[in-house]
Amino acid sequence: MAQVHVRPAAAADLPGMDAVHRAAFPTDLEARLVTLLVERGKATISLVAQIDRQIVGHILFSPATLVSASVGLAGPAGPERRSDLALASQGSAGPAEPTGLGLAPVAVLPAFQNQGIGSALIRQGIVACRRQGVAWVVVLGHETYYPRFGFAPASRWNLTGDYGTTDAFQFLPLTAAADSLRGGHIRYAPEFGEIIGPVV
Ligand SMILES: CC(C)(COP(=O)(O)OP(=O)(O)OC[C@H]1O[C@@H](n2cnc3c(N)ncnc32)[C@H](O)[C@@H]1OP(=O)(O)O)[C@@H](O)C(=O)NCCC(=O)NCCS
Repeated sequence: MAQVHVRPAAAADLPGMDAVHRAAFPTDLEARLVTLLVERGKATISLVAQIDRQIVGHILFSPATLVSASVGLAGPAGPERRSDLALASQGSAGPAEPTGLGLAPVAVLPAFQNQGIGSALIRQGIVACRRQGVAWVVVLGHETYYPRFGFAPASRWNLTGDYGTTDAFQFLPLTAAADSLRGGHIRYAPEFGEIIGPVV
């Protein structure tokens, strides 16, 4: 296979990224989500995989927020209360800051799948997260795929997520504080709700 180059996405890559998600997923939800997150400045980490001049893969990480363990799947009963870890990482009672990132979506053009490109995007994405001091990453995805990158079911940390609490919802702590987390609810960026629909 020709040389695969993984690099940060540039504004001019958006059509290529869009084409990847439209080809890789059954619907255009992911492609629309990517465009919205980029437009809103929520593409905290966005990497493309390129072969020659073609974009063949893309991965995006957007801000996710840890809120109180008291927040149920149906939403907060009262004002959201950030967890101790969120507060500790912030160090002040200022406006809520994202304390981690959600990995979504990641895709590779069908003709280029199963050649290690998705793995390269995920691994280099996690390296970028570490470099930026990101405390944790969540993903909602294949239970047999993501553990190879260090993810484990978020239920191990007693964490729930906006889109269900099955073993598909996985957590990757990147700091000791994140690994010692016990309980909480992780919210994806609001753009997910806008595109995918109401949170469960
Ligand atoms: C998932 C995806 C990004 C992986 O990229 P890739 O370049 O094909 O993956 P790699 O070559 O690095 O790794 C291949 C491995 O992924 C596994 N894999 C791919 N799709 C999978 C799926 N739907 N469920 C479980 N494992 C999957 C393959 O079985 C293979 O496993 P092996 O290494 O044990 O043989 C790519 O298949 C894709 O774009 N799929 C469609 C979009 C999608 O589902 N995105 C993920 C949303 S969570």
